[in-house]
Amino acid sequence: MRWRENMKTETARLLMRKPEISDAQDMYKNYTQDSEVTKYLIWNPHKELSDTEKWVEHCMDIWDVDKTLPFVIYHKEVQEVIGMIDFRINGFIVDFGYVLARRFWGQGIMSEAAAPLVRHFIERDGIYRIQAVHDLDNPASGRVMEKLGMQFEGILRKFSLHPGVSDIPRDCKMYSLVK
Ligand SMILES: CC(C)(COP(=O)(O)OP(=O)(O)OC[C@H]1O[C@@H](n2cnc3c(N)ncnc32)[C@H](O)[C@@H]1OP(=O)(O)O)[C@@H](O)C(=O)NCCC(=O)NCCS
Repeated sequence: MRWRENMKTETARLLMRKPEISDAQDMYKNYTQDSEVTKYLIWNPHKELSDTEKWVEHCMDIWDVDKTLPFVIYHKEVQEVIGMIDFRINGFIVDFGYVLARRFWGQGIMSEAAAPLVRHFIERDGIYRIQAVHDLDNPASGRVMEKLGMQFEGILRKFSLHPGVSDIPRDCKMYSLVK
């Protein structure tokens, strides 16, 4: 299966699909400008809608290359884009990361969004490992990884820059799923 133009996956509450430029408005309103949401991420909160529009354009451009697949998370009942889950294929390894609007935290949304996608990637021919990291001070993200069946492997010291907390690289926990 290839994640091309019309590729999408659906769960009870959510639809994960390729971004569209019109998604930028929901994304900006719901999370890209929220410094609480971006605190443990590698990017700074967006200052204006055009920052998010540029990001979405970038996501649409790289999607077709088929090595980086940033899915938007669309909430079917609310009818808004409420987050993103981003897969990066590097040989036999797939890395991923995710972000969700604050008002939807703690409802099992990210686990629901990620589960079918993680399953798809690990079943893909030639892929043997799915991995993700999170800031040591962001344990809710580790809990999502555990709920996805991933295994904690260790702490990567000074591994990732999270400008929302510090200018110094942060220690991160690495989780993986292998076949
Ligand atoms: C991390 C994030 C994606 C979690 O999404 P979510 O939809 O709220 O996650 P879920 O509801 O599926 O699961 C969260 C789990 O973490 C647990 N949790 C929440 N806060 C916690 C904390 N401080 N310590 C430990 N566990 C915590 C919840 O209880 C839940 O576990 P449970 O289902 O066993 O009760 C969301 O908070 C988010 O987008 N944060 C900002 C961006 C971010 O940090 N992204 C990850 C970067 S690595």
